[in-house]
Amino acid sequence: MKLDTKVVHAGLKPDPTTGSILPPIYQTATYVLEKVGQDKGFDYTRSSNPTRQTMEEHLAAIDNGKYGAAFASGMAAVDSCLKLLKAGDHVICSDDVYGGVSRHFNQVLVNYDLHFSYVDSSDPVNVENAIQPTTKMIWIETPTNPLLKVTDLEAVGKIAKNHDLIYGVDSTFATPVFLRPLEFGADLVMHSTSKYLSGHNQLIGGVVITNREDLFEHLKFVQKTIGAVPSPFDCWLTILGIKTLDLRMKKHTENAQSVAEFLEGHHKIGSVTYPGLPSHPMHHVAKEQMSGFSGMISFELTGGITSGKKVMNAVQLIQLAESLGSVETMITHPATMTHGDVPKEERLARGLTDGLVRLSVGIENVNDIIHDLEIALEKA
Ligand SMILES: Cc1ncc(COP(=O)(O)O)c(C=O)c1O
Repeated sequence: MKLDTKVVHAGLKPDPTTGSILPPIYQTATYVLEKVGQDKGFDYTRSSNPTRQTMEEHLAAIDNGKYGAAFASGMAAVDSCLKLLKAGDHVICSDDVYGGVSRHFNQVLVNYDLHFSYVDSSDPVNVENAIQPTTKMIWIETPTNPLLKVTDLEAVGKIAKNHDLIYGVDSTFATPVFLRPLEFGADLVMHSTSKYLSGHNQLIGGVVITNREDLFEHLKFVQKTIGAVPSPFDCWLTILGIKTLDLRMKKHTENAQSVAEFLEGHHKIGSVTYPGLPSHPMHHVAKEQMSGFSGMISFELTGGITSGKKVMNAVQLIQLAESLGSVETMITHPATMTHGDVPKEERLARGLTDGLVRLSVGIENVNDIIHDLEIALEKA
């Protein structure tokens, strides 16, 4: 099955009781047994739920994975991956991860004796050089939030394999439409389903996909033990979202390419970062490993933060909001919003300046998006 067919059908079948074309929402906490010891596969919704399981199988199929475990948020999914480790273990992490991820690693997990090194993983040599005797995991985000750094997943996969390290990839920005990290050697693929996968700003969720049964068993154990699970209704909404994922992603990437080119040619813009632009330092890798460049752009104005703020406050169609990956075009100020909790010194050292503006390009008519930016830029 091709991906555009898979998003509609894979892992889904009509309900055997009624023929309902969509899976029922099993909004239940528990399941009645006919006798003691009976195993129906479902006993309590924290452990498993038929709507959730349908979504997990659907998501695993489109990522070309065997197993999926769903969580109540992308952060809960990241946390569950890190729960594969033990006190004393060391993790090598991309240096430009989503601010919530570095906050979790640096302000929560360090208290449980996990250790982190941050490297610019767009050069795999940096990953290899950071390996210590206690290193157990490599955690890559690609493209990164918000600087859109791209990592060569195959090259890092070889390093992970040679050193027997668990290899996790946060593929939220790319989605399985454009990138399937398991095909490049990843052990774990994580998505915030709050973004493109559900696609309409309608929920918070996360998922981890793997081909490794040992890791899946552990993730399921964490899922049922800690209980950071999505509601059956959110799982159902996610299934609906995924059915149009392929269509939406093609429109997101087409629009983003035009918007990035418009911005790059505008006299008030100092720099534009988009993996689909030849000026992106890792454009060649992105072109090789992704089948599209997705909908995220970041840029800076020549007038810095003062002009950036004017643009963010002046847009009309484009919404000033945290989050990304929805049908609506959204503009974000990472320094005060998504990465507001990253200490300023650390943020600046990463290259995340006060003036950086992030754009999640939606699926509206691209001329309307560009027109809105044009008018806003006049005020900058
Ligand atoms: C790349 C990336 N990973 C993980 C997350 C966390 O996901 P959630 O907000 O669903 O917890 C986000 C959220 O913005 C993200 O952008």
